[in-house]
Amino acid sequence: MIRVGVSGAAGRMGETVCKAVEGAEDMELTARADPALDTALTDVLDRVEVVVDFSRPDTALENARACLEAGVHCVMGTTGPDFSELQGVGRANLFVAPNFAVGAVLMMEAAKLAAPHMPECEIIELHHDGKLDAPSGTAARTALLVEEAGGNVHDPIHSVRLPGLVAHQEVIFGGTGQTLSIRHDSTARESFMPGVLLAVRRVSGLESSPVVGLEHLLLG
Ligand SMILES: NC(=O)c1ccc[n+]([C@@H]2O[C@H](COP(=O)([O-])OP(=O)(O)OC[C@H]3O[C@@H](n4cnc5c(N)ncnc54)[C@H](O)[C@@H]3O)[C@@H](O)[C@H]2O)c1
Repeated sequence: MIRVGVSGAAGRMGETVCKAVEGAEDMELTARADPALDTALTDVLDRVEVVVDFSRPDTALENARACLEAGVHCVMGTTGPDFSELQGVGRANLFVAPNFAVGAVLMMEAAKLAAPHMPECEIIELHHDGKLDAPSGTAARTALLVEEAGGNVHDPIHSVRLPGLVAHQEVIFGGTGQTLSIRHDSTARESFMPGVLLAVRRVSGLESSPVVGLEHLLLG
């Protein structure tokens, strides 16, 4: 059994992760950390082997550092910070994914395929109105991957924030007389759970740290 703690456990994603961990036969939910539950992450690190963090952009880097320094592996879902500065910190591994939904990974792979052939590209990302960062981590990651594949992502990335939305993105390529639109919609937070559980199972065996992107676990 993998002993799992959830950081941001009272939040929208954190609550969904707690249920998913409780439903997994090979995992045990041993801690729920969240200031809203009066429980600090640092107070529960001695009870867990892996922490899953879905907290806030302004606390996630510090949370990940605390895990690594305590020898606890960390699966990071919070978007916004640059986690590359945590390379070499502690004796544990950090896995980061800006999007844990398999469909979003496939959207990014499809965008990489299209970029060399139809380089002109615009990204529109749409999220619920409680999301703190913009553009989304998924959009920033897609732009990086498209540009690495030879595409030209127009500035700015368009961010829509409205009630009723969960997490959606359209990547549009334009060429002479044609466009190609690649769209992914997460209509429920459960869409992220298979990816989160996969990362919990695999984080201890990573050969380097941090590893960024679910594609490294799904397609690598
Ligand atoms: N990677 C993905 O697939 C994915 C998917 C959805 C959302 N997200 C990201 O996950 C993050 C959380 O989203 P949400 O909608 O659940 O937010 P939310 O506001 O519903 O929940 C955040 C929770 O973190 C708690 N928190 C605040 N400070 C904390 C700290 N220092 N330590 C631990 N917890 C703390 C808050 O009390 C709150 O309960 C956001 O950055 C969002 O963009 C990522």
